[in-house]
Amino acid sequence: MTRSPNKLVPADFSAVPSLHVADAVQVAVVDELGAGALDAIGVLVHTTGESPAGIAMDREALARAGFEAKPGSTLVLAGAEPTLLVVVGAGSADELTDAVLRDAAAAFVRAVPKAARIGLRVTSVGSVDAAAAAKALSEGVLLARYRYDPLKAIARETPLARVELHLDGADRAAASAGVAEGRVTARATAIARDLANTPPSHLTATDLADVAAELGERFGFDVESYDKQELIDMGCGGLLGVNAGSAEEPRMIVLGYAPQGESSGHLGLVGKGIMYDSGGISLKPSDPMHLLMKMDMGGAASVLAAFTALRDLGATASVSGWLMCTDNMPSGAAYKLGDVLTARGGTTVEVKNTDAEGRLAMMDGLVLATEAGVDAIIDIATLTGAALMALGPATAALFGTSQPLVDRVRAAADATDEPAWQLPLERKYRKQLDSDVADLSNLGGPYAGAATAALFLAEFVGETPWAHLDIAGTMQSDADDAWRSKGATGYGARMLIDVARDFTPVTDG
Ligand code: BES
Ligand code: ZN
Ligand code: ZN
Repeated sequence: MTRSPNKLVPADFSAVPSLHVADAVQVAVVDELGAGALDAIGVLVHTTGESPAGIAMDREALARAGFEAKPGSTLVLAGAEPTLLVVVGAGSADELTDAVLRDAAAAFVRAVPKAARIGLRVTSVGSVDAAAAAKALSEGVLLARYRYDPLKAIARETPLARVELHLDGADRAAASAGVAEGRVTARATAIARDLANTPPSHLTATDLADVAAELGERFGFDVESYDKQELIDMGCGGLLGVNAGSAEEPRMIVLGYAPQGESSGHLGLVGKGIMYDSGGISLKPSDPMHLLMKMDMGGAASVLAAFTALRDLGATASVSGWLMCTDNMPSGAAYKLGDVLTARGGTTVEVKNTDAEGRLAMMDGLVLATEAGVDAIIDIATLTGAALMALGPATAALFGTSQPLVDRVRAAADATDEPAWQLPLERKYRKQLDSDVADLSNLGGPYAGAATAALFLAEFVGETPWAHLDIAGTMQSDADDAWRSKGATGYGARMLIDVARDFTPVTDG
């Protein structure tokens, strides 16, 4: 079949160009940085103490040049050598964390945009263990150089070829194991970014199903996709309702990972996969927000990306995923305000706003996850502008019916520096979702929009412990910011990996 020139233009186009980049870069823990062959060497410097060996400038000289070793600050030292030397601020040595190391590594990479072969020296990892430090440094380096450029004639970014890490006094084997993990988790985030950055007509629900099948083959998980007729047979009225106005078919993409040995537990992940959200008949106002709505599948992207890491990290849990994929378009066939949709399981929902489509597409997936008998469900969705208004672009909104599960997600959010903040699932607002004609309405009142959306989803999880991440704010960044690159952030992939890899059932008590 010949393709339209507006789809998948370059001959070698892949929806996940980062896979090639991830394969091409070497990352090594070394005893001695290979100075001669490197384009740039970064040296971490703390706010107090002597300046590290190898830096010709003492602390006063660095300060005179305006470098105080604040976290994220860098100074490229002038010199005639072919290898650039960069001091990289890491803040107070006593307050060193893996998040500071990740940020510092990213700052170094951004200070030397043309360097392909780089080395980073860390004089002390403080109380961070060697593996965690090396993992964070690798993630920082690899994610800071991320760029989505497969559709550009001239790539803007120099791809990394070799990264050397030298960690003074750290156990080399542990550090190497950390690097191996960091490569896997950074690759997952890059995959999630690629998928969300891809133009909407280049990545339809059907295309995503094809991509998922390829990734499953390569990274060792099962993928089954359900087309429109199969969704009709399964009674998935939510996903079908949202899809009605679209020229593209919907897909529900079901992912399955089983560990080698006995499984520690079974986690269900449900992702919102709105490939493009125009708002439907409740058309969004024509503002720059439209441009971001190709990323309305960011939740599905991070679930799919998380699966690419499970086998390589030796995950001990069984993990199942449901990606609910369609675009949301206005047309003569589109679902209308006042329509009533029937979810899998029979719950009826009156549509009061076709732009509150995410919860409708998700409801069938949540029911299917409970039917599968998972021990817990975590869903992730670019669900409400209200989450962005409440917490901004740095922090996702977190809700749940099981505090132990919510606590697990919070711990993973802290560990990966993908911040999430719990908001109350206030039952008093539940009546805002009452409908005169159906069991539920898809629209709450004017306030607490993230909470009423969460309350809507809660109707479909039964007794299964459930947590919900609203990533409308964190799905993208307006500018490069440490390891977060401008555009899709891939938020959620690393956090979900952290929760899923050794998941065990939660007990409420
Ligand atoms: N996809 C949007 C939410 C969104 C907004 C994501 C901004 C990322 C950035 C969602 O489908 C939506 O339109 N939600 C509506 C719900 C409302 C109609 C109840 C919203 O938040 O305005
Ligand atoms: Zn919407
Ligand atoms: Zn949406």
